[in-house]
Amino acid sequence: MLGAYSCLLFILGASAANDNITPSQSIRDGETLVSVNGTFELGFFSPGTSAKRYLGIWYKRVSPRTVAWVANRETPLTDQSGLLNVTSKGIVLLDGRDRIFWSSNTSITMKNPVVQLMDSGNLVLTDGNYNSLLWQSFDHPCDTLLPGMKLGRNFKTGMDRHLSSWKSINDPAPGEFSLWIDTHGFPQLVLRKGSVLQYRAGSWNGLGFTGTPPLKENVPLCDYKFVINENEVYYECDAKGPAVSRLWVNQSGLVLRSIWSSQQDVWFLAYYAPLDRCDLYSVCGANARCTTNSSRRCDCLEGFVPKSPNNWSEGCVRERELKCRNGDEFPKYVKLKLPDTSSSWFNASMNLKECSELCSKNCSCTAYANSDVERGGSGCLLWFGDLMDMKEYNDGGQDLYIRIASERGRSVTKKQVGIIIASVLLMAMFIVASLFCIWRKKLKKQGLTKMSHMKEDMELWEFDFASIAKATDNFASYNKLGEGGFGPVYKGTLVEGQEIAVKRLSKGSGQGMEEFKNEVTLIARLQHRNLVKLLGCCIQADESMLIYEYMPNKSLDFFIFDQARATFLDWQKRIHIVGGIARGILYLHQDSRMRIIHRDLKASNVLLDNDMNPKISDFGMARIFGGDEIQTNTHKVVGTYGYMSPEYAAEGLFSVKSDVFSFGVLVLEIVSGKKNWRFSHPDHDHNLLGHVRVENNT
Ligand SMILES: *[C@@H]1O[C@H](CO)[C@@H](O)[C@H](O)[C@H]1NC(C)=O
Ligand SMILES: *[C@@H]1O[C@H](CO)[C@@H](O)[C@H](O)[C@H]1NC(C)=O
Ligand SMILES: *[C@@H]1O[C@H](CO)[C@@H](O)[C@H](O)[C@H]1NC(C)=O
Ligand SMILES: *[C@@H]1O[C@H](CO)[C@@H](O)[C@H](O)[C@H]1NC(C)=O
Ligand SMILES: *[C@@H]1O[C@H](CO)[C@@H](O)[C@H](O)[C@H]1NC(C)=O
Ligand SMILES: *[C@@H]1O[C@H](CO)[C@@H](O)[C@H](O)[C@H]1NC(C)=O
Ligand SMILES: *[C@@H]1O[C@H](CO)[C@@H](O)[C@H](O)[C@H]1NC(C)=O
Ligand SMILES: *[C@@H]1O[C@H](CO)[C@@H](O)[C@H](O)[C@H]1NC(C)=O
Repeated sequence: MLGAYSCLLFILGASAANDNITPSQSIRDGETLVSVNGTFELGFFSPGTSAKRYLGIWYKRVSPRTVAWVANRETPLTDQSGLLNVTSKGIVLLDGRDRIFWSSNTSITMKNPVVQLMDSGNLVLTDGNYNSLLWQSFDHPCDTLLPGMKLGRNFKTGMDRHLSSWKSINDPAPGEFSLWIDTHGFPQLVLRKGSVLQYRAGSWNGLGFTGTPPLKENVPLCDYKFVINENEVYYECDAKGPAVSRLWVNQSGLVLRSIWSSQQDVWFLAYYAPLDRCDLYSVCGANARCTTNSSRRCDCLEGFVPKSPNNWSEGCVRERELKCRNGDEFPKYVKLKLPDTSSSWFNASMNLKECSELCSKNCSCTAYANSDVERGGSGCLLWFGDLMDMKEYNDGGQDLYIRIASERGRSVTKKQVGIIIASVLLMAMFIVASLFCIWRKKLKKQGLTKMSHMKEDMELWEFDFASIAKATDNFASYNKLGEGGFGPVYKGTLVEGQEIAVKRLSKGSGQGMEEFKNEVTLIARLQHRNLVKLLGCCIQADESMLIYEYMPNKSLDFFIFDQARATFLDWQKRIHIVGGIARGILYLHQDSRMRIIHRDLKASNVLLDNDMNPKISDFGMARIFGGDEIQTNTHKVVGTYGYMSPEYAAEGLFSVKSDVFSFGVLVLEIVSGKKNWRFSHPDHDHNLLGHVRVENNT
């Protein structure tokens, strides 16, 4: 009885000793250490088909063997003579001839060193008492981040814990891909291929990384932590509940979170990233966002235009120079992956209002956002310079406010403007006003206020700026009808009640006032029932505006691309519309007194009157902009992608044929109800035009 009891004690004692070794013990190839609850095991193994021997830690209850950590990643043993010892200098891995293959590199000499494998998968080295942690495997991750392990940087010790993929399933040496916390600017999680930034999981927003898929957890895996303080920056998952999960980087450069299912004996994927083509770092270049919805993947931000129409990866540039101070506005973008924060500034205790004020005050600040989205949002993130690597989500993402030059021009009304500045301004305004009066008088002398000196029965008005400003509520954004290649269009109502459309021409035509009026007069003489009627113009300082009749039924795109509204357009009506557009173009090209090439024919430039008669708008713009020569305007990319003929898009060559090309695209869109550029097909990557060509060839 007593014998059996002491035998039981011996067994218990032996198994309890199994999770650690002291200098008098060692682990040979074939022997293992097992953590106290049997979760992890440490020993020698050969990965895949390799015959080489590595010392590693794997899940004891998971099969096939899943290795979480390897000691001698780059220095395998070639035979099974491996021996793990603990000495007063730390942990050493020796072969049969006492050659050292790997060591813990501990600098302190210990009296009672103990190496223990914890149930978390951490191998720790202590000197007798457990408070004296001298080394731990969690500080030297391989490809796997286990719960309790920190990914990130300690500024005190200089330690930068990161993951690196295996070279192959047969070789655990560091491969091409590595996962880091980049601590420049506002810290963010990045995946590198070699030293090149491949994918940006992005900054932590309180709930997750702004660039990872939202984690829809069936089982609560972790209490996630992202800590930023003066000592360290790290990301950590604190295990929650019994689920076994790991974050790792595989050999093809995917970051995966896997969960072990003990019922089905498989690893499930909770999520992985990068997910799609939009995740490739800065695939659209600066100041652009990537969408996965359409076949065109890149879009410039509002207020930006493509730097090069043929190569989206060159990104976008500002349409208008910033005015700074009150001349700029910050439109809000939603559902975005926030741009690269590596050169951004942050303050976690500010609110959005303070953040907005700070950004507006500093002219080099290009965007701002909350740094944390939990509980309605807090913290402040500011960007300076170009905005890189944004993605638009259908679901999830964050709000971002981006600085652009306001179209309304400068309005100096801030209370804080001091008396001195105010008086200087008053003087300046007085001078400007006098000059303006002199200029107006000069114009009046030439009889141009009402430009009704034409022979035909036609009236062309020069509207004064004040009445146009009043009609459009000072160009209020809710009156904005759209934006053409030549500037925004506003709806307005004159005092008499007449509804008008005001096209505010972008600056840069290089034309003088006189030439502009001559042009307007010429254009106004073009009269055809399939062209929108020009009522007059308005000239204010360096701005010019064209005033048109207002079309209540908006434009063609409003109907044909909307499933519900498209039902208004039966085939009869569509034929009528196509015919009308064709007649309008024919008139511009051949039948009018001058030859006009439209250059921006598209569904949104075909307006519809009360009876759904099509009327082409924006004709004559090319003339006003001095575009008779064969060249593109360098300030502005005139034309719209998807409607531009290849020779125009590529070389800037345009002729009547360019309009015919656009007309062709338009007809296809009217017939199919699909946008050329937004078209997508499961079998190929073509746009609508390409699709039609492919279908015809087969
Ligand atoms: C390793 O440990 C064993 C006993 O456990 C001992 O015989 C051997 O000398 C040790 N080797 C070294 C290099 O310390
Ligand atoms: C080991 O298992 C016991 C019983 O299941 C549990 O109470 C204990 O917390 C576990 N220890 C560790 C380190 O996980
Ligand atoms: C140990 O230190 C040596 C020299 O400082 C270094 O070459 C080696 O890579 C280190 N080994 C480990 C496992 O850190
Ligand atoms: C990496 O993981 C993805 C997703 O599970 C998988 O498709 C791919 O084959 C893996 N790469 C390798 C080299 O195993
Ligand atoms: C993308 O598609 C989703 C659902 O189909 C839609 O809700 C969303 O508005 C689309 N986004 C864009 C930019 O077209
Ligand atoms: C597009 O621009 C990128 C970046 O400037 C450049 O690397 C690439 O070669 C260009 N591609 C083409 C087709 O011109
Ligand atoms: C952050 O913002 C708070 C609140 O506005 C302010 O008190 C604090 O000084 C700011 N910290 C830094 C580093 O600017
Ligand atoms: C604007 O911000 C930049 C970058 O943080 C800084 O260098 C500059 O001094 C700031 N300018 C003003 C006027 O605050």
